Amino acid sequence: MGPFRSDLLKDKVVLITGGGTGLGLAMGQRFAELGALLAITGRREEVLKETSDSLVASGYKSFYQTCDVRDPSQIHDLVNAVEQHYGHIDVLVNNAAGNFISPTERLSPRAVDAVLNIVLHGTFYTTLEVGKRWIEQQRPGTMLNIVTTYASTGSGFVTPSAAAKAGVLALTRSLAVEWAPYGIRQVAVAPGPFPTEGAWSRLSPTPELEQKMLDRVPMGRVGDPGELSNLAAYLISDYAAYINGEVVTIDGGEWLQGAGQFNDLRAVTEEQWDVLAQLTRKKKQG
Ligand code: HXC
Ligand code: NAP
Repeated sequence: MGPFRSDLLKDKVVLITGGGTGLGLAMGQRFAELGALLAITGRREEVLKETSDSLVASGYKSFYQTCDVRDPSQIHDLVNAVEQHYGHIDVLVNNAAGNFISPTERLSPRAVDAVLNIVLHGTFYTTLEVGKRWIEQQRPGTMLNIVTTYASTGSGFVTPSAAAKAGVLALTRSLAVEWAPYGIRQVAVAPGPFPTEGAWSRLSPTPELEQKMLDRVPMGRVGDPGELSNLAAYLISDYAAYINGEVVTIDGGEWLQGAGQFNDLRAVTEEQWDVLAQLTRKKKQG
């Protein structure tokens, strides 16, 4: 059952964008197990229906409606529908995203927009729609944004995603201050590699690239969606009420491995260290 009491999120209404697949689905399932009332959205109705039906069949509460987060009027309709269904919203999880690997000079303006419009504009529009209502209703709430480790560092070959996620992180930190007086809290998680169909098919489509991804993680493994879901559950729970504007990295140390200048020395063998030790010790005088 995991580290929490089963009523950790009891009766919290949680809206998850991109909740029909991958990490959004995993988080939704965990939140439901912990008592949350779920609302999930995305562009593909059949995907949402399958996920929602299976949650309901397991005895959980789940509502779905399609919505393209690039379109503010669809978001308006979605939030109306969720409020009508559950009465209100307590938590917004901005999880929907688009991404693919490509040399930046190969991108067309439409390719750049395809990612920026989902990740940056979509997240901003849902945040605005839900935030305005919470302020008007004088209702406290929590927003959890799913970013990436390269939101802070940048990364080649996924530059629209890096720019968009950096924007989402800036939005998280900005609103943490601006909307705190309204009782609205902002948190983010920055996952490292978690193999999902959506991400792997676009970012790691060959066994060689997959192995490279693994080699970058000092812990030598990818993440388990359950690990991310438990972190997310804590962050949206009342026990995290004083965490505001923080981004929590969950990547097995991956980004630090890339950042530390000498971290490649992980590959040096014991025998090679014996030689290096001789070479690097201070030479005895005389
Ligand atoms: C170059 C590409 C491309 C690619 C699309 N385009 N894919 N260019 N390489 N692989 C270009 C197209 O040619 C077109 O430009 C423009 O982008 C729009 O393409 P569409 O297919 O019409 O876009 P759309 O239907 O809006 O789909 C959006 C998408 C798609 C982002 C391209 O992949 C998608 O729907 N993704 C949603 C799910 C997803 O990406 N999940 C992964 C999240 S993982 P032209 O000029 O030709 O018309 C993540 C972080 C992972 O975010 C971190 C890992 C550690
Ligand atoms: P995923 O399964 O592809 O999830 C993306 C979801 O977003 C899908 O359900 C998709 O559904 C939805 N979506 C895309 N465009 C949308 C739009 N315009 N409107 C509404 N919904 C839209 O991939 P994932 O790996 O679970 O990714 C989930 C989140 O984790 C993303 O924010 C991603 O950046 C982040 N992340 C993932 C990893 C990883 O290793 N997996 C690492 C770091 C960060 P539809 O296509 O039906 O719309």
